[in-house]
Amino acid sequence: MMYPIISQIAALGRGRVIGKNGKVPWDIPEDWQYFLDTIEGNPILMGHKTWDALKRPLSVSWQGVVTHSQSFDPENAVTFASVSKGLCALREQGGEEVFVIGGGELYRQAIPFTHRLYLTLIDEEFEGDVFFPQWGEFSRVVSEKKSSGNGYDYTFFVLERGDEFPVRELGFLGDRPLVQG
Ligand SMILES: NC(=O)c1ccc[n+]([C@@H]2O[C@H](COP(=O)([O-])OP(=O)(O)OC[C@H]3O[C@@H](n4cnc5c(N)ncnc54)[C@H](OP(=O)(O)O)[C@@H]3O)[C@@H](O)[C@H]2O)c1
Repeated sequence: MMYPIISQIAALGRGRVIGKNGKVPWDIPEDWQYFLDTIEGNPILMGHKTWDALKRPLSVSWQGVVTHSQSFDPENAVTFASVSKGLCALREQGGEEVFVIGGGELYRQAIPFTHRLYLTLIDEEFEGDVFFPQWGEFSRVVSEKKSSGNGYDYTFFVLERGDEFPVRELGFLGDRPLVQG
């Protein structure tokens, strides 16, 4: 079996802000639609707080939630007591690509094992209490500038690791190759 690549998807204000008081600090319907389209039909993993923030069902093939809680028993999702257990199960779902969808704690802990980032960078200051980690080791593959109907300028970025990354960095998750070919 070949493993899918692990991707992360997030929207960031200036200064890498992604959340405030348990919510996303903006409403950009075009970016929400991009998020839905990108993850559609794929397996996703998230932190407990992001699960709580979501409030609506997503059209995905599998959902994992990382939590220390033993009593938390979400509908239509599997829970994991650690990020590494969650990532292993996420990758075992197969397909070509699997997604970590937040929040800050999950992005930070999963980024050493992540191959691709889908980042929406919003050109605006927001107050925040949760931040996306530094992503210096990733290089831009594509970017596309947009403006939302409600006045925000933002850019969709896709960034990737270099080719040598997967085997070297993902050793702890198993010794099988990450991507085909
Ligand atoms: N802008 C975006 O694209 C975006 C995307 C997603 C989320 N967000 C925002 O980000 C914020 C949430 O992020 P967050 O960093 O506060 O929370 P989070 O990453 O969503 O979830 C944190 C929770 O996950 C569990 N967890 C984390 N690491 C764990 C580990 N190693 N072992 C076991 N459980 C672990 C814990 O749950 P327990 O407390 O149950 O133990 C922890 O409280 C919200 O404001 C949300 O709206 C923004």
